[in-house]
Amino acid sequence: MKRLLRIVNVLAILLLAPLVVLLRAEPPGRYTVGTPTDPGGSGKFYMGREISLVMGHQGAGWLERPEREKEEQPKKLLQMLSIKPGMVVADIGAGSGYYSFRLAEKVGAKGKVLAVDIQKEMLDIIRQRMKKNKVENIEPILGTDADPKLPASSVDLVLLVDVYHEFAFPYEMTEALIKALKPGGHMVFVEFRREDEKVPILLAHKMTEKQVLAEMAPHPLQHVKTIESLPWQHVIIFEKKTNKTENKPARSASQRGPSLVGAVGR
Ligand SMILES: C[S@@+](CC[C@H](N)C(=O)[O-])C[C@H]1O[C@@H](n2cnc3c(N)ncnc32)[C@H](O)[C@@H]1O
Repeated sequence: MKRLLRIVNVLAILLLAPLVVLLRAEPPGRYTVGTPTDPGGSGKFYMGREISLVMGHQGAGWLERPEREKEEQPKKLLQMLSIKPGMVVADIGAGSGYYSFRLAEKVGAKGKVLAVDIQKEMLDIIRQRMKKNKVENIEPILGTDADPKLPASSVDLVLLVDVYHEFAFPYEMTEALIKALKPGGHMVFVEFRREDEKVPILLAHKMTEKQVLAEMAPHPLQHVKTIESLPWQHVIIFEKKTNKTENKPARSASQRGPSLVGAVGR
């Protein structure tokens, strides 16, 4: 009888342990799980949006495809952000470092790029490229899916290119990224436009501006503006609220002025 009770106890622990882990990781009601609606979808939903699957490191070559210059115009994007020498920029979901190396040139020897990814293999690619090209101002950081492992109040600009929609814990990641920002620092989302069906990307890997704004609304962020002059992507800029930040209305998405320099830099 005692032996039977012990077996029942062990079985109960084995069955309940994953549930306890799940409950701890996911506050009730924040996320829901359902049937994937898209080949790129994870089946996990946040505020009505299906979170996408994470792009595996096996696809690192795709991130370095030459067509990206035309599709994403990285030079134009970085100009919009007015990155200055000496700044600390966090490239979240850095992948193979497509943006990290471009950012490293902009921030110069006195600045730093914190290249965060959850896949060690991606960071290994970045390390190899750093060694080959003698780049020293990039710091690869292995984050977790809910924690970018960044020091508090240390970052001028958090750049999220084509990654936020992959976050398994978008709420928790956003909280952690805001903590890492210096007061008045900026957080920039570059996401494929879901409003535009001509953008040839799986649905779960695209986001509407409206959805990004809704998901940031619970956080201490002020929407500064949205820039729509890249071919396929929104550039949605937020500032970390300080006690002094007024709730100024952001410039609307339809304001697509050509003069973008000064949007973020200081
Ligand atoms: C589609 S790739 C984009 C890479 C890079 N930003 C670019 O534009 O070339 C997305 C990357 O984000 C990473 N990622 C997904 N969730 C993450 C998280 N919670 N924290 C950090 N990186 C994450 C993935 O491992 C992957 O390398």
